[in-house]
Amino acid sequence: MTFGMNPRLFAVCGTRPDAIKMAPVILELKKHSDIQTVVIASGQHREILEQVFHQFNIRAHLNLEVMKHGQPLAEMTANILQRFEHAVQNQQPDMVIAQGDTTTTFCAGLTAFYAKIPFAHVEAGLRTPTIDAPFPEEFNRRAVGLFAKLHFPPTASAAKNLLREGAPKDSVLITGNTAIDALLETTRGPAQNEPCKGRMMLVTTHRRENWGEPQKRICRAIHRILETFSDVHVVLPMHPNPIVREVLRAAFQNDPRVSLIEPPEYGPFANLMRSAHLILTDSGGIQEEAPALGKPVLVLREETERPEGIEAGNAVLVGSDENKIFEQASKLLGDETYYSKMSTARNPYGDGKAAQRIVARIRTFFGLPAEEISPFEPMP
Ligand code: UD1
Ligand code: UDP
Repeated sequence: MTFGMNPRLFAVCGTRPDAIKMAPVILELKKHSDIQTVVIASGQHREILEQVFHQFNIRAHLNLEVMKHGQPLAEMTANILQRFEHAVQNQQPDMVIAQGDTTTTFCAGLTAFYAKIPFAHVEAGLRTPTIDAPFPEEFNRRAVGLFAKLHFPPTASAAKNLLREGAPKDSVLITGNTAIDALLETTRGPAQNEPCKGRMMLVTTHRRENWGEPQKRICRAIHRILETFSDVHVVLPMHPNPIVREVLRAAFQNDPRVSLIEPPEYGPFANLMRSAHLILTDSGGIQEEAPALGKPVLVLREETERPEGIEAGNAVLVGSDENKIFEQASKLLGDETYYSKMSTARNPYGDGKAAQRIVARIRTFFGLPAEEISPFEPMP
């Protein structure tokens, strides 16, 4: 495709991980004055999205401000679709780009498809075999995969998923995950030691499949770990969702060995990960970051679309099973040889050049000169 004028790109973010993973792409795009980059926030998240923009010094040109507490998914979806369509009609972008599997990304993609504007998908091709795990993200990313014109899978296995589903070969480029670009940039200096007695276990949980009973089981497992290992202290940054906070506060509010904290900005959070002895999480992004930092991670999910961390030996899937969580954590806290095997730093998810690859491919899509760059391959 050759363009007479500079192409206009809509770079769309809605949630915290959207912003962290799009930040390297937005910053790379800004180096190219022959592409006009318009940053759009859906407003699916508010404070925790603003934190990321602040950290990376990014400003949204437009915020659709859709967040409402307790808003059902269908209402949020309808609001984003409607408001985003207005923006598309007003500014007529030549391409829309978004990452991953959030409702914002699904809506940005669907609107682009309806408007016949090419959609570029960062962190494409992650799959579990189950349409409702994670919910609703598995549906979101599969749907976006149907109409994206450019797919940027982070790893070879994600690329394989896309090719199996029929994506044309020349639309697929293995880039590494932009999360690793962001992490390497953020953790360049030495880690700051977190003031903490004993060994710190960092915990995050927010997934919709874990709301209610599963999250209560996770909390019970943490209580048992604390009873068994007297030198362990838990730091638990709470997702702002009130449904999640209610369970966490009921379980830990009066426990002096559990610090329930407001979500730190990405830089300080990366530092917390570096100071942790062990990480328990149902987060997608943290599963990618922990191996890069050499931190063992217990994945609080029944299935994961990120098999690379498990294959590399840094992660174990424990779901929300109280016994499994307790047993695996006990093994890591009690067996030094096992611990050191799981804490070897590896980088199956990226090499810090994902955004460069993505922008180079976007340039060739528009017929602009671009640097030659080979696909991401993990170090053996
Ligand atoms: C969403 C994404 C999920 C991603 C997660 C990252 C969807 C369907 N889900 O989770 O893929 O892993 O974000 O964090 O896209 N809230 C605030 N302030 C904020 C952000 C949230 O108060 O800055 C509260 C609001 O009450 C909001 C609630 O948290 O309604 C949940 O936000 P929502 O975007 O619906 O979160 P999830 O769907 O759980
Ligand atoms: N993160 C952060 N502060 C926190 C918790 C997480 O900056 O208090 C970062 C984390 O390093 C990762 C991203 O947010 O890059 C993950 O976001 P989240 O777990 O909300 O979403 P997911 O990755 O599961 O979609």
